[in-house]
Order: sequence, then C-alpha cells, then structure tokens
Amino acid sequence: MTPSAALDRSCLPRHIGIIMDGNGRWAQRKKQLRTQGHLEGLKTAKKIVKAASDLHIPFLTLYVFSTENWKRTAEEVGFIMGLVKQHLKAELDFYRENRIRIRHTGDPGGLPPDIVRELQEAGEDTRSFDGLQVVLALNYGGRDAIVRGVRRLLASLMVSPETAGSAGFIENNLNSINEARIRQNLDNPDIPDPDLIIRTAGEYRISNFLLWEGAYAEYYFSDILWPDWTAEDLYAAIAAYQQRERRFGGGKP
Ligand code: IPE
Ligand code: IPE
Ligand code: MG
Repeated sequence: MTPSAALDRSCLPRHIGIIMDGNGRWAQRKKQLRTQGHLEGLKTAKKIVKAASDLHIPFLTLYVFSTENWKRTAEEVGFIMGLVKQHLKAELDFYRENRIRIRHTGDPGGLPPDIVRELQEAGEDTRSFDGLQVVLALNYGGRDAIVRGVRRLLASLMVSPETAGSAGFIENNLNSINEARIRQNLDNPDIPDPDLIIRTAGEYRISNFLLWEGAYAEYYFSDILWPDWTAEDLYAAIAAYQQRERRFGGGKP
C-alpha cells in the first residue's frame, strides 16, 4: 500500500494516461456478465479521477473505447455507450464540485450522435473549471488520431488545383510539414504529452493508445484488473514514475 503522503509533490506527472483494462476478466472471475465488469470499471474510474484531482494532477486521459472495440458484440458496445452517456448526465455535479473539466479525444464521426452531444454538453458545462482536465478517449485510436490530424493539416493547406500543382507550392508545403505542425493538428494540441502511461490487467501492449504523444512517456504495468484498482494503486504508479530517470535521448547526465 502506497499512501499519497509517500509521493514527492514537487515532481508529480503533469499528464497521466490510463489504459483501463480487465473489466471482462473481472466479471468472468466473479461468474458475472462482462457488462457488470464495465459497471464496476466505471466506479473505479470515478475513484481514480477523484484521487488524481485531489493530488492536483493537471491532465488525466482515460482510454474508454478504442477504434478497435467496435469488433465486440453489439450488446457490449451498446452497454458501454449507454454507460458513458448515463455517467456524463448523472455525474455533472461531481465534476462541478471538484472543478474538473471534461474533454474528448477520438473521432466523433463514428460515435452515436447522442453520445457526441453529451460529450459536447459536458465539455461546455465544465469548460471554465481550472482543476483536473479529464480527457475521455472514446472511439479513439492513436493511428486514427494521426490520420485525422494529417487530414486537418492538409485541409489547412488547400488552395486552387492550379496553385497546388505548381512546383513552388509543393516544395514550400512539403518543407513546412514538420513534427510541430502535425502535433498542432492532433485533437487537443494544448494538452502536454503524457508523462506516465499506466496499463492494468497484466497486458504489456499499447493497443493503439497515444502513439504520437506517448513517444517519451514512462510506462507502468499493473497486474491488477481495472475494477479492483484503488487510489493506492495510482499512488504506487506515481511513486514508481518518480523513481525513473527520464533522459529524452540525451544520455546519462
Ligand atoms: C477494458 O476492459 C474496457 C474496454 C476495453 C472497453 P475489457 O473489456 O477489455 O476487459 P478484458 O480485457 O476482456 O478483461
Ligand atoms: C484497450 O483495451 C482499450 C481500452 C482499454 C479502452 P483492449 O482490451 O481493447 O485491448 P486488447 O484487445 O487487449 O489489445
Ligand atoms: Mg481488454
């Protein structure tokens, strides 16, 4: 058990990403339906949001539903979408009380319109809050996010076909495409890259989460299934992060 008092408050991660995995296995072990696992997982998400907020972590990205999760049964997908909608409606007071801002990353295009509306409303309702910013990664895929970002960048360069075909235009624009401009065209360019990415439930893969932004994140893997996660597990992950030496390619100092 790691208490929050064990953490060095002067070097907390600014942005934590969590791949909340293991809801299905949690339910299976308890001989319950997978949907029950998602219900418990949501309760855990609220606990972890509160813990991160109490620690004054500025940004928390939660991987809620990936671009690949549409492969699941219609029943499971429908249940998760319903849960998200219900949560955003029911918990606005919780977000208001804690001055938490809700944001979204992912493709709104592929989401049911009522979910998009709920995300927008929650985002607008909490826009002015200066506390923790919770980014819900919903219909999110790291590759898809890069594709959408590159499309935005290209759209911003669009001119007439004649100009676009000219050698000068092509040369100028090819040279103007760089990492910073791609980054600026991703979903939330104002949010700093994650310092710490956590994955629960004993899987050691990224599953298409924050591919661009996570280039220099520290990774923390936990065997504990997401519904069993507690605030102390978050503190343990942050404590482990605080032991890491980040070099960003600069070599050992
Ligand atoms: C994570 O739990 C939640 C989502 C991906 C929506 P899973 O549903 O993937 O749980 P496992 O991996 O099957 O145990
Ligand atoms: C990643 O978990 C997606 C979310 C947690 C939302 P998955 O359970 O979908 O990942 P894989 O299939 O094990 O890679
Ligand atoms: Mg899983």
